[in-house]
Amino acid sequence: AHARLTVDSAFEVAPVNDRLFGSFVEHLGRCVYEGVYEPNHPTADENGFRQDVIDLVKELGVTTVRYPGGNFVSGYRWEDGVGPKENRPRRLDLAWHSTETNEFGLHEMAKWLEKTGGNELMEAVNLGMRGTQEALDLLEYANIPGGTELSERRRANGADEPFNIRMWCLGNEMDGDWQLGHLNAEDYAKKARMTALGMRQIDPDLELVACGSSSHEMPAFGEWEETVLTHTFDLIDFISCHAYYWPKNGDVTSFLASGADMDSFIKDVAAAIDATKARLKSDHEVYISFDEWNVWYQDSEPSKNPEGIGNWPEHPHLLEDIYSAADAMVFGDLLITLLKNADRVHAASLAQLVNVIAPIMTVTGGDAWRQTTFYPFSLTAKHAKGGTVLEPKLASDRHHTDKYGDVDTLNAVAVREADGSLAVFVANRSADQSGEFEIDLPDDASYTVVEAQTLHDDDPDARNTADDQNHVVPAVNDTAVLDAAAGTVKVSVPPISWTVLHCR
Ligand code: AHR
Repeated sequence: AHARLTVDSAFEVAPVNDRLFGSFVEHLGRCVYEGVYEPNHPTADENGFRQDVIDLVKELGVTTVRYPGGNFVSGYRWEDGVGPKENRPRRLDLAWHSTETNEFGLHEMAKWLEKTGGNELMEAVNLGMRGTQEALDLLEYANIPGGTELSERRRANGADEPFNIRMWCLGNEMDGDWQLGHLNAEDYAKKARMTALGMRQIDPDLELVACGSSSHEMPAFGEWEETVLTHTFDLIDFISCHAYYWPKNGDVTSFLASGADMDSFIKDVAAAIDATKARLKSDHEVYISFDEWNVWYQDSEPSKNPEGIGNWPEHPHLLEDIYSAADAMVFGDLLITLLKNADRVHAASLAQLVNVIAPIMTVTGGDAWRQTTFYPFSLTAKHAKGGTVLEPKLASDRHHTDKYGDVDTLNAVAVREADGSLAVFVANRSADQSGEFEIDLPDDASYTVVEAQTLHDDDPDARNTADDQNHVVPAVNDTAVLDAAAGTVKVSVPPISWTVLHCR
């Protein structure tokens, strides 16, 4: 397959928002407990945080962290997780059929984020089993400096300064029948509106995220967006998208082209935003928070909840997918797609961060290690953060998929980095054809060097594991050639691969 990307530095899509490299920590399985927090681990600090995990989170390049759920938040009482640990209640977590010990809560998360380098907290409120009042209480607790019952309670609990949380999710996946307290579009829209109004009375500068559909495939997709946006438009800053991909019914060809679906999902939601804006004659801007995205084998064994009235384990192994080289290519392509849409997507959260469908895995009491998906994330964050996405003028050979019709075989995007160098990310979605990829460099470019790294394994099913941690890692791609006189870069990319090129 062949593709040519024409890069013109005069045509920009948008600056890359740091928040595109957000992630997600839910009280689910071993994400918090034994992932982030394991007091008995040899590397644990005075707070019980695993230092080896903190180091990998920094290396990954994550920015915002969405917390505490996910489905979990729709049954969560935030008060359970604050105050002296010995007084915190043990609760049933209905979403994941587990016991929540509440040893870790808002204060611990805020402190952990300081330790990871000052990442931003993106807090979700419970609009499932709870409502506006509890959301307002949490906001008062978190953001009011002092002098009221709840702000003073925070201070008494050890946080003298407010947490000053800017970004808030108004519930989670409120259209899904798996969600505790899920609602129809009209009822959710009214609840979100009421909550947003109240929250803005406390703190007008918040950035609020309304729930969009739980996936592009929800039966009410589109209608849901229209209703929610109509009721909340001037009160919100974001509407959410969530998407998980895996080879449904064994259809690997479509799976490898998942980026094509993410792209049309974003374009559909952007169209709903634009239509509502026009209809309401509003000059307010609403962006997309793609606040859950990943590869997730939803119907496989690791995603089965515990069962039984007497069986509510503490932090069981749940959703611990081990990712292959092919999964990492799809994952990298999803990042390319987010970047291509950087004008509409101003925030995104990789779901999730540790152990649960995560780039970072831990052995209880043992190592922390990198999944295959760790690398496209860390390399994209490293090169794209602080940069500007340039208009992707891409002419690629195409091939057919049963699910998404004809798709570009090679997908790519270019980012001008803060130092003037150029990063180009390329995914080869073909299962059997290598790709000849060519970049037509900007006329004003004076690059002299190109470096390329490719993530690929001849066995697309190859994985890293705790016992073989470096089985699939990026390798130098020495086929990359820069021809300064012709203003081109050429590189060969193997089937099912993800590549980053850096021209400087
Ligand atoms: O990330 C796992 C789950 O996926 C989240 O809890 C939920 O919001 C989504 O369905």
